[in-house]
Amino acid sequence: MIARTAPAVTDQAADGTVPRSVPRVDLDGVGRRYRTAGNEVVALDSVDLHLDEGEFVVVLGPSGSGKTTLLNLVGALDTPTEGRVRLGGVDLTTASRAQRARARRELTSFVFQSFNLFPALTALENVRFGADVARRSGDGTRTAPDPGDVLDRVGLGDRLHHFPHQLSGGEQQRVAIARALATGNPILLADEPTGELDFTTGVQILGLLQQQAEAGRTVVVVTHNREISRIADRVVELSSGRIVRDGPPRGGRAAVTDLHW
Ligand SMILES: Nc1ncnc2c1ncn2[C@@H]1O[C@H](COP(=O)(O)OP(=O)(O)OP(=O)(O)O)[C@@H](O)[C@H]1O
Ligand SMILES: [Mg+2]
Repeated sequence: MIARTAPAVTDQAADGTVPRSVPRVDLDGVGRRYRTAGNEVVALDSVDLHLDEGEFVVVLGPSGSGKTTLLNLVGALDTPTEGRVRLGGVDLTTASRAQRARARRELTSFVFQSFNLFPALTALENVRFGADVARRSGDGTRTAPDPGDVLDRVGLGDRLHHFPHQLSGGEQQRVAIARALATGNPILLADEPTGELDFTTGVQILGLLQQQAEAGRTVVVVTHNREISRIADRVVELSSGRIVRDGPPRGGRAAVTDLHW
């Protein structure tokens, strides 16, 4: 099982912010082809990517360049058609469905591009769900942040009991971010997390994600907005499914307060 072979998962310090052990992410020669009737799309091609704990990585690329495909592979939501994906040394490519499910519960937190909130659950219940799934799968000693506190941190302390259809797009996006934060899992994967947000709220959320990396988590943010990549430790640029650049932001790393878009 993954828990036996991977480093201890997300045990957090009492303040609920610092994971003790964060697994490495290793993609080697990864390809992902989609075959549809008489047609093949190469969404990812020969991708080598290695992420260390505490890295704040922005994956940058135009629409259709393979960003979501890449994030789904790292998040154990999909398997490659070529190459190997490992989390904490555990090969997800050969893992059973149960092992991949365990990796999702214990290692990764996902903010989906389309939010994927449960429509029949309130904001608080959606966030509590994320926390509960992760907590139940731990060894009983894990602590995760309080769901209400996390919603407060994304500015939704006064929307706890609203259902998704009673929230604006940007508010739903922040519930999705809170749900991911509330798992306390060590690898945070966020697909266009500021896509629905106004500039001020977007900058606040990016600051929150940056803090997660400073606390030791591995944070991967996918975006087509180059400005956002300025605050990353590392920018991975995708074009037509290939990594065309991997390094620090051009022009050096900026502070969140320096961003403009
Ligand atoms: N299930 C699928 N079946 C067939 N083709 C797919 C599938 N999912 C994605 N693709 C194709 O793979 C390519 C990469 O898609 P992906 O969703 O990873 O792009 P993206 O960079 O996330 O784009 P966006 O910025 O628009 O979200 C696209 O050309 C897309 O049409
Ligand atoms: Mg996408």
